[in-house]
Amino acid sequence: MCKGLKTNFLGVELASPLVLPAGVMGMSYSGLKICVENGAGIVTSKSLTKLPRSGHEGPVMAEVPGGFLNCMGLCNPGLEEGLAEIAEFKKLSTTPLIVSIFATGREEFTELTLAANRSSADFLELNLSCPNVFDEFGIPLAASREQVFEIVRAVKEVSRLPVIAKLSPNVLSITDIALAAEAAGADALCLINTLGPGMLIDIYARKPVLYNRFGGLSGPCLKPIALKLIYEVYSSVKIPIIGMGGIQSGQDAVEMKMAGASVIGIGTAIYYHGLEIFNRVNQEIRDFLEESGYESWQAIPALDKIRD
Ligand SMILES: Cc1cc2nc3c(=O)[nH]c(=O)nc-3n(C[C@H](O)[C@H](O)[C@H](O)COP(=O)(O)O)c2cc1C
Repeated sequence: MCKGLKTNFLGVELASPLVLPAGVMGMSYSGLKICVENGAGIVTSKSLTKLPRSGHEGPVMAEVPGGFLNCMGLCNPGLEEGLAEIAEFKKLSTTPLIVSIFATGREEFTELTLAANRSSADFLELNLSCPNVFDEFGIPLAASREQVFEIVRAVKEVSRLPVIAKLSPNVLSITDIALAAEAAGADALCLINTLGPGMLIDIYARKPVLYNRFGGLSGPCLKPIALKLIYEVYSSVKIPIIGMGGIQSGQDAVEMKMAGASVIGIGTAIYYHGLEIFNRVNQEIRDFLEESGYESWQAIPALDKIRD
């Protein structure tokens, strides 16, 4: 791997700043391994829940211009099996790995964290994007500063691993949520998760295309929104950001770096371009470094922060 791409994330050396995000290829050790072989510098497991989940009935994905809608329903093999896949991956690769966990409240997140402590993962990511659990005022977990604060604080109290809070864009102020996560001790943030949800209608069948009616939007159409939200959050927090949402080229990755992200996720672009996307984006970043005279990925400066 080219020297210029090497970077450091929370004290861990990465060969490339490209991240495999949660939910895309991260269900098995072989899916994780093949992403590393194709140039990912850090990989994330599928979000794991306490018990296995079969997810929603199909169709669970549908293409729209500029992206995909998905309503996978967090299908995953459950924590035990998921951690076994991670252990298998770690026997074969020294590449850093993020274990993603999903729960609906503080106690369950803590329980999953204790199990993740015994795993060979390098980082713990909390999928805090749950739209279906509400607080006493009817605010969904993802949009509740109080719940995000409480969950992150409880997890930080017991976690052996650095904690990354993954945030939803579907909130009034993502900066408020990011600040709550930071104040609770999160080591890093990951944004953005899917947007929406949205829907599509089959006019001949007169029914929604997705069996579950609604699905989260991902892919290239997300990029301008992801850039704006990352830039906004970067302007307010001190902890590093894993940026994602619609990235499919070296130029996109550099834009996101300039918006304030430290490392960059590539998810949906795999469906469009195959796994070679990681190596292609790595090469396009190298080309940019050479053309622009930057010494390394880390030397690319972010924009000036927004000031009130
Ligand atoms: C099929 C699919 C499954 C996903 N599953 C998860 C998941 O389990 N946990 C999670 O935090 N994010 C999940 N995501 C969101 C992605 O990790 C990422 O945040 C989002 O898709 C934006 O990046 P992209 O446009 O590069 O795909 C999923 C996305 C897709 C397309």
